[in-house]
Amino acid sequence: MSETYYITTPIYYPSGNPHIGHCYTTVACDVIARFKRMQGYDVMFLTGTDEHGAKIQQKAEAESKTPKEYVDGIVENFKRLWSFMGISYDRYVRTTDDYHIETVQNIFRKLYDKGYIYKGSYKGKYCVPCESFWTEKELIDGCKCPDCKRPVIDSEEEAYFLRLSDFTDRIIDLLRNSDYLRPESRVNEMINNFVKDGLEDLCVSRTSVKWGIPVPFDENHTVYVWLDALINYISAIGYENSTYNDFEKYWPANMHMTAKEIVRFHSIVWPAILMMLEVPLPKRLYGHGWITFGGAKMSKSLGNVIDPFVLGERYGVDAVRYQILRDMPYGSDSNFSNEIMIGRINTDLANDLGNLVSRTVAMADKYFGGTLISDRKTDPLDDELKAMAEALRDPVASLVEEAQHSLALAEIFKVVSRANKYIDETTPWILAKDKANDPRLATVLYNLLETIRICSALLFPFMPTTMPKVWEQIGAKESDVAYDKIATFGVLPAYVTVHKGEVLFPRIDIDKEIDELNAMLTPAKTIREDEDLDKAGIITIDKFAETKLRTGEIIACEKIPKAKKLLKIQVDDGRHGRQIVSGIAQWYAPEDLIGRKIIFVANLAPAKLCGEESQGMLLACDTADGGAKVVFLDNDIPNGSTVR
Ligand code: MSP
Repeated sequence: MSETYYITTPIYYPSGNPHIGHCYTTVACDVIARFKRMQGYDVMFLTGTDEHGAKIQQKAEAESKTPKEYVDGIVENFKRLWSFMGISYDRYVRTTDDYHIETVQNIFRKLYDKGYIYKGSYKGKYCVPCESFWTEKELIDGCKCPDCKRPVIDSEEEAYFLRLSDFTDRIIDLLRNSDYLRPESRVNEMINNFVKDGLEDLCVSRTSVKWGIPVPFDENHTVYVWLDALINYISAIGYENSTYNDFEKYWPANMHMTAKEIVRFHSIVWPAILMMLEVPLPKRLYGHGWITFGGAKMSKSLGNVIDPFVLGERYGVDAVRYQILRDMPYGSDSNFSNEIMIGRINTDLANDLGNLVSRTVAMADKYFGGTLISDRKTDPLDDELKAMAEALRDPVASLVEEAQHSLALAEIFKVVSRANKYIDETTPWILAKDKANDPRLATVLYNLLETIRICSALLFPFMPTTMPKVWEQIGAKESDVAYDKIATFGVLPAYVTVHKGEVLFPRIDIDKEIDELNAMLTPAKTIREDEDLDKAGIITIDKFAETKLRTGEIIACEKIPKAKKLLKIQVDDGRHGRQIVSGIAQWYAPEDLIGRKIIFVANLAPAKLCGEESQGMLLACDTADGGAKVVFLDNDIPNGSTVR
């Protein structure tokens, strides 16, 4: 049986749409999970969402939804994002899942029975956005949350407490004398800021927050969201529930990864809970830095396009994955801007890696018609490249294991650069001038292909969509890039055949691209419409409710002869069907629309357009360039649903 490896991301608050900052932890974990699978481990990669608490309750109320309705929608966005970003998670935990609730309630009861949870009265400072209690001494200027720097509120209520104060010495011992928390700089930060003066008991229930897991023996109380959330790491593999039963197999976790602001909960509260439960501790907690804008944690755009869907569509998901990992130094923050991302893609991916592959394949194609016949005779000029490529795998593996993604990539790209230099040194185009040099020329190209094979195999966990395309181009089979084949040269057959393919990483014209991104951020239209809004005034919800919006599916669509701008669209509206005529023919061909789900105005008075009756109007957005984009829905939404 293969050895197991259990890795977790934090579970995300579904309180807004995910941005590029959210992607960092998940992509970093994905790389480790993929690397470990490549090494033959039986991997469990867990991610999920943290769905309870006052913040979610408030957001749902603001949208006139139940909290569950609200989170269901956002969880879909998270799952869509992870699939778009190529995240290979094995399990997705939601804290609203029944099995998780069962585990949390069982643990709460267990800790109460053991005397680690007791009832008392809480009087203190609470930060609503962070859902965190703070002691006076932890506050900034005596009144602000140390995490988000917003004012805290006074709060007093009957509550249950977790006896953390009994665990000060054991937590100090864990932090100081084991390698649980990394990077090391965070150890002193935690001990000095939170532990050294003695831990205080933690309030672990609320009576004011209704959207939470009820305390099993006192239903006026709900479990504090952080206790609820941390338990996900064991509920998801079946601790104290009957849905899963992999706890024995995967626990203790090999790696919890989080950003620095939540290291406190993971390095103090979480190990203390596990100690109380007499469960072994996870092996490693890695607290990485933030993706920032000018020093502040990224939370909104501030003049940059940060929607991962937009970035992934423009540059390719693998390029985005590469940049966020490459530019985050170990343990520190990384400043984000669209320029930095584009610059990195152009330099490393288009120039260095992309060029190496395309030049090598093009030369093999041009000089040998694609198939090399190498005599593999060595030459001292080859030694350094070969030695570097053969020595690459193990250091990269150690760096990945330590979550040193940026350094791991830097090591691989040193070999990529060395290979580009090797082309300049061996000058294949000069060798090609004389047929007598063919064996040497073939060996040079073979060495380049072997170097690409090794580098691309190690890059696969980072860029899982593009590397198989590289293998196709260099004529490598899947078995040629297996982990046990990438620490030696000579795996590709001497008569390997290459296949010229698409450009792997197209170069981006940075000025043009920045102009386009800026146009996306400040569409002139939006500003004008806001002014219009001011003039037109505000409407009541009742007025809005007069407009009946429904969902439907386009089942047929055709152009209307003589009306260049119009499309005639047949919509399955969940009832008798209807025809809508829409002025979107400049932007959509009929076949682009068939099968897509849309929103339409259902109670619009019918009108005739170019002789065709239109029974409603579909919703589309204005775009910055004066075009329109239809609002499409997920395919699983039933036709005829009400939109409000
Ligand atoms: N729900 C808690 C975690 C509970 S885990 C038991 C939470 N959620 S969160 O959605 O606010 O943030 C989750 C994680 O998102 C952060 O720890 C971090 O990993 C990641 N990031 C969010 N913004 C980020 C950046 N700007 N940069 C890097 N990571 C960021 O905290």
